[in-house]
Amino acid sequence: MHLSCHSEQESQSPSADRLDNNTEWAIYRGDKKASQYAELGQINGANVHRLKPVWEYHTGDATQTSSMQCNPIVVDGVMYISTFSLNAIALDAVTGKELWVFKSATYNENQADLKGRNRGVTYWESDVKKRIFHFVRNRVYALHAKTGELDQEFGTRGYIDLREHLDMDPSKASIEVTSPGIVYKNLLIVSSRVTEGYRSTPGHIRAFDAVTGEFKWIFHTIPKEGEFGYDTWEWMPGTVYGGANAWGGLSLDEERGWVFCATGSPAPDFYGGYRKGMNLFGNCVLALDATTGERKWHFQTVHHDLWDYDNPSAPILVTLRSGSKSQDAVVQLTKMGLTFVLDRDTGNPLFPVEEMAVPKSTVKGEETWPTQPIPAKPPPLSRLQTTEADLTNVFPESHADAMRQFRKYQSGYLYTPPSEQGQITTPGHLGGVEWHGGSFDPTTNIIYVNSHDGPTINKLKRIYQLEHEDDLTTAQLGMSIYQNECMSCHGPDRKGVPPVYPGLMDVKKTKGEITTLIRDGKGIMPSVSQFNAGELDALAEFIISNEVPTDLIGQADSSIQYTLTGYSIMKDAYGAPAIAPPWGTLNAIDLVKGDIRWKVPLGEYPELVARGIKNTGSMNFGGCVATAGGIILLPQLMTRNFGHLKK
Ligand code: HEC
Repeated sequence: MHLSCHSEQESQSPSADRLDNNTEWAIYRGDKKASQYAELGQINGANVHRLKPVWEYHTGDATQTSSMQCNPIVVDGVMYISTFSLNAIALDAVTGKELWVFKSATYNENQADLKGRNRGVTYWESDVKKRIFHFVRNRVYALHAKTGELDQEFGTRGYIDLREHLDMDPSKASIEVTSPGIVYKNLLIVSSRVTEGYRSTPGHIRAFDAVTGEFKWIFHTIPKEGEFGYDTWEWMPGTVYGGANAWGGLSLDEERGWVFCATGSPAPDFYGGYRKGMNLFGNCVLALDATTGERKWHFQTVHHDLWDYDNPSAPILVTLRSGSKSQDAVVQLTKMGLTFVLDRDTGNPLFPVEEMAVPKSTVKGEETWPTQPIPAKPPPLSRLQTTEADLTNVFPESHADAMRQFRKYQSGYLYTPPSEQGQITTPGHLGGVEWHGGSFDPTTNIIYVNSHDGPTINKLKRIYQLEHEDDLTTAQLGMSIYQNECMSCHGPDRKGVPPVYPGLMDVKKTKGEITTLIRDGKGIMPSVSQFNAGELDALAEFIISNEVPTDLIGQADSSIQYTLTGYSIMKDAYGAPAIAPPWGTLNAIDLVKGDIRWKVPLGEYPELVARGIKNTGSMNFGGCVATAGGIILLPQLMTRNFGHLKK
């Protein structure tokens, strides 16, 4: 079939309105505004208890550590999902019958072990085509919606490689897409997940022609020389800046023709000594012209982030109504549990935002930004500090255990920087609110948001700066790379942070297998591509050696660099959060008044319930959906990652 390359002349997909509604769920998170709201009222409080399972479908790739983060979409009676093995599947939404499976491993030739996070697919149609865009690591595949076959007319025989058109050496880019892209006319706009250590990849936002796959525009979330925001960084020679990526996806205002993104921290996450300054457009809500990528406005939620306080979910576009007045706004939920409500046209806050003075870092070379923005309203969804009075009291021994940690580490109010002794940070890097966003009911101005309370311990370790690698032996080089790029997940002593991050002692893999794994990633471990052959070899050698990392400081290197010793959550001996319940809540926020209308504990630990301890709330991921029937639907809560209670 001949396909016109003049996508601009191809009429705008007839779908724009047909699909962007709140009854069909043809778009990730319900609609392009990320509302997560269903206008369907048939199921309501009076009959919801009569719901019965009609069908069940098993993707067949679940493992002990897998998690299904996909939000299925439904178009014309067909449900499209993505799975833990990064496959795309189409099901008859009425019967659950499998229509097709796209096995990504068949196509990603060099990446056999494809598993990971994937939050869904993007549907696109024109007058002549219907496609599913499916995101597998660094690739975007175009599939025929009807058959699941690769549409060879897109990009290179059916896919585009996102390592290209990033304004850097593609072979050094580590990038994947975990939340689906969004469509504007015939543009597919994508954001990314990147690594978060030293020498990370930048999280630029890009648009591609949805018909041909041709690259259209790039917005540099880390500005290039001459661009706005460049002077908010102190550029150090030889340093590579990465991060500032919108891994939680995008939302879109069809009328204004603007795409909205919310970026995460600049890399590395917990030490900013090499990226002094405010670091635009890290941790920003961004409004971009969807046709050109030009910035309309930005609002920074965290200046010079030292806490991994990424903006987790895409901005939610809402219209607030009060009497005869209406206001288009943007709601940004955050890991801090703070909610920013911004004017959609200007990005100005609708409730006053105060720049609060925050403590200075005690770590060498760090220049903490002196203030952070705190909205006067709505109130925080989670606690912003763990004091002695906040420690868990679920059992006497859990309190004693929490107390031991409380005495060992430091603890301060929100935005107290990480330290070498270890700082109890509340909320931790898992929030507050995570990637699941909230559900906005346009008839009541209320947004429903699930949030959790869980401190993490942000402990820094001084490490050897890799820029001086010529001074190191091969064994030292491997160890040093480990400390720079792997320690935050696999731990200072290679014991990992189970159950999410495995230890790396006695790895049953050959050197070649380890090298491949580092380059391709595995499960939720991102691919790390920035190493040259010598570095990769030294690193693999070090993993096989089973040596425990030692301190390299004091060698030839006099410069200072730090990294996190592990993404550790502050838990009691049972594996439950070490802060007193509620550990998770569901909140109803009135966005006009800026008040929390109600707040209830959300989730329980079965092991605690068995002992009569109920209504504790739990860590929770996966968003809620409010409906016109007056009910709120939530997925079964994911408490497993925080360890089943051990005793
Ligand atoms: C963002 C966190 C993260 C970072 C950074 C990271 N890893 Fe991993 N790594 C993981 C996770 C999670 C797994 C488990 C993957 C799975 O099996 O699903 C893993 C698995 C591995 C394994 C396989 C272990 C086994 O027993 O089979 C090796 C080897 C490994 N990582 C090495 C590295 C090295 C070397 C680096 C530094 C370049 C690194 N990792 C950086 C998260 C990370």
